[in-house]
Amino acid sequence: MAGLIPQNFIDDLIGRSDIVEVINARVPLKRKGKEFTACCPFHNEKTPSFTVSENKQFYYCFGCHAKGNVIGFLMDYEHLSYVDAIETLAADQHLDVPHEDNAFANKDKEDKQPLYDILKQAAELFQKQLKTSERAISYLKQRGLSGEIAKQFKIGYAPDGWDFLISHLGKSKENLTALTKTGLIVNKDNNKTYDRFRDRIIFPITDQRGRIIGFGGRILDQGEPKYLNSPENAVFHKGYELYGLYEAKQALRKIDRIMVVEGYMDVVALAQHGINYAVASLGTATTTEQIQKVFRTTHEIIFCYDGDNAGKKAAWRALENTLTVIRDGMVAKFLFLPEKEDPDTMVRKEGKQAFEQRIKDASTLSDFLFDNLKSECDISTSEGKAQLASKANTLIQKMHNSIFKDLLIEELSSLVGLSQQHLESKISSEIKKQAPVQKATAIRGQQVSNHKTRIAIALLVQNPSLAAKYKVPEKFKNAFTKGLPLLHLLQEIIESNPDMSSAALLERFRDNEHEKVLNKLAVLQTPETETTDNVDEVYSNIIKRLLIEDRDDYFSHKINNNEPLTAEEQEEFLKVPGT
Ligand code: UTP
Ligand code: MN
Repeated sequence: MAGLIPQNFIDDLIGRSDIVEVINARVPLKRKGKEFTACCPFHNEKTPSFTVSENKQFYYCFGCHAKGNVIGFLMDYEHLSYVDAIETLAADQHLDVPHEDNAFANKDKEDKQPLYDILKQAAELFQKQLKTSERAISYLKQRGLSGEIAKQFKIGYAPDGWDFLISHLGKSKENLTALTKTGLIVNKDNNKTYDRFRDRIIFPITDQRGRIIGFGGRILDQGEPKYLNSPENAVFHKGYELYGLYEAKQALRKIDRIMVVEGYMDVVALAQHGINYAVASLGTATTTEQIQKVFRTTHEIIFCYDGDNAGKKAAWRALENTLTVIRDGMVAKFLFLPEKEDPDTMVRKEGKQAFEQRIKDASTLSDFLFDNLKSECDISTSEGKAQLASKANTLIQKMHNSIFKDLLIEELSSLVGLSQQHLESKISSEIKKQAPVQKATAIRGQQVSNHKTRIAIALLVQNPSLAAKYKVPEKFKNAFTKGLPLLHLLQEIIESNPDMSSAALLERFRDNEHEKVLNKLAVLQTPETETTDNVDEVYSNIIKRLLIEDRDDYFSHKINNNEPLTAEEQEEFLKVPGT
């Protein structure tokens, strides 16, 4: 997907963004000389070793060696994909991300657009049908919904019968294909097709942009299954979407909190009673992606579940997922309803005010965490305390470095009677145990071993403008010495875009075999890279030396291996170096 966004847009975007500003909005930075520092958000530490260079538009941690440019930071910090990080950055600059007119991008668009179109048309048909069905209308009325709310959520009705959609929308081959791809019609073995949703109340599911991507359909009477949902398809991914999020954003200008509930009807009934900040995960446990989506919208999330065992289990899964994404400034709470109640029945029974009081009184994440662990372990015994500490450690380990994490460790410490230091050292030693796997997979790419080559590359990456002042020799392209072809490649890239920053240059190497070494060299500090006034001279001298060394290396390699020199090479060999 990365190639779909034009490279010059990415260069430009990095050029316009200020990494200090982007990071500071998420991790408060302090100025320290030329650079900015903070406690590293990627590992646990008490003294700041996380450094952001305004000059290089690059961050680096001297503790855990995390490093990268602004895009890399957003990807790691917010767990975003590459494209999402670019989208986020572009949104800050009020820019739309263009997509290259390439076959792949167009194909993707071609594939999806008919699905969006057919889903929209189907939703409109279902909405129209609702108006004509007394039975469906009275069902919704009996459940306490007004026409206005039904309209807001685009609720509809799929009539009984097998070919409602086919007869209305299946007129062309393209439409039939789209209907099948969305799962609105089902193909039977004998090549017959029929409507998936029949005699059901229809809840359209929208994405963040308000496009319809799927449906939930409820049976009107008793029967199985109570709810039928669209299958996953090219535009509908259950674990990523939240029913009601778009509607909440439409209804509220500023969203102070979002409550996650289990059912479509819960979302709609709550909105009917003026609680228009509820969303539902779609029949599955709430995923980390969904929680992140909520935290990108607001700072407070309330998980509301039934008070029964299934509800507790679902809440625990939500807690585990929340721990991996929560940051300071974000709040997660857990609300358990009395048995046999759900948000729909509860809000209808007691109204908005009483329900919102429950939200206010909901358990904090830490209460729910420790209460639950205490109910599982007998902390009147040492064994029980050890068991609790171990379970809590496993959970706390998943967290980002934060004050909240420190507070949980503090609470755990007073609960089990172990010092915080002891607990922290256990937590970090377990994290270290996991680290080698990541390291092993991360080390790849060409080694650039020669010290001078490394410095030359470091200088060029850290000062891309050098490329215009002192050109890397053409013969480095196929040079014998490792690293010189890379130096030449850097020269070529910068020549194609002379104003590019270090960060933009590095961006070109994302997921490339050279990424790792370049990121390292971008922050390399040596006497040469720290020179400020005569960096051009230092650089040109190194290149000259490299030219000679490469030539010598080449000849000595040939001579040592008894390989004959060509006539040209013989002439070259006899030349005085540097002429
Ligand atoms: P519930 O059974 O709690 O339904 O399922 P509900 O929302 O309270 O429904 P009402 O009040 O009886 O109308 C919660 C959610 O689980 C999914 C749906 O997303 C539903 O909203 N579900 C449930 C299904 O996908 N299929 C089912 O058969 C049942
Ligand atoms: Mn219900």
